[in-house]
Amino acid sequence: MRFTEIKRKKSLNSKISNTYGLDPDKLPVHIAIIMDGNGRWAKKKLLNRIKGHEKGADTVRMVVRTCREIGISVLTLYAFSTENWERPKTEVAALMMLLKKFLISEKKEMTDNNIRLNVIGQKKRLPADVQEEIQRAMNATCVNDGMLLNLALSYGSRAEILRAVRRIAADVKDGLQDIGHISEDNFASHLYTAGMPDPELLIRTSGEMRISNFLLWQIAYSEIHITQTLWPDFTKEELIRILNDFQSRERRFGRVLEE
Ligand code: FPP
Repeated sequence: MRFTEIKRKKSLNSKISNTYGLDPDKLPVHIAIIMDGNGRWAKKKLLNRIKGHEKGADTVRMVVRTCREIGISVLTLYAFSTENWERPKTEVAALMMLLKKFLISEKKEMTDNNIRLNVIGQKKRLPADVQEEIQRAMNATCVNDGMLLNLALSYGSRAEILRAVRRIAADVKDGLQDIGHISEDNFASHLYTAGMPDPELLIRTSGEMRISNFLLWQIAYSEIHITQTLWPDFTKEELIRILNDFQSRERRFGRVLEE
């Protein structure tokens, strides 16, 4: 499946959206999530920050399962930013270990549930063993078309935009691209998310009112939902409530809706 073929999915169980009070035709095709608050969750419980990330990984599993169940086509999770490399070495190592464990343990679940894994970000900066597991999981799931799970790893939106600019500039230099023909669609086709629909809903946990260098181009028209809940405490019920809220919003894209 090419990413350009991504469309609205049917939920696994046609009654499921009704059970949750959701209109299946108004579900966001693409949800992006800034998973924040693992450290504060651990601190509140007088635990090491790593414990917060471990509990956060359980929430990731639940959210992936739920999104697949209700028929979301693309889920993008901000798992590790370019800025996160600046964290203490022990925390970075623990996050990489968790990621590797996740990729190994979830490969079967993704295969069984028709989920395709993709990574956006500077894959080459990741440790070699993590890169290998990413490749294995991506290969094992590449024909799946039930849901696309994008893990943003060593991801930074400004770096992504610069990368696109460099690629377009190189094409212009080589005579492959005419400056007058650089369009929004053409620009977007040089981003990691090439061919994917933009996120219609951006969720951030833990109450911070920031975008933190995440999908700056792609979220131009996303609905934003910020919840105070810390990521390890985020539940399926809250995700469903957020989706209900999303469905009640009027999306105008800068236009005036006709009477
Ligand atoms: C933010 O919490 C979270 C991260 C930097 C990493 C996200 C990682 C996970 C959810 C677990 C592993 C991921 C996968 C895909 C298995 P924070 O540490 O910034 O929290 P704080 O702001 O409270 O300190």
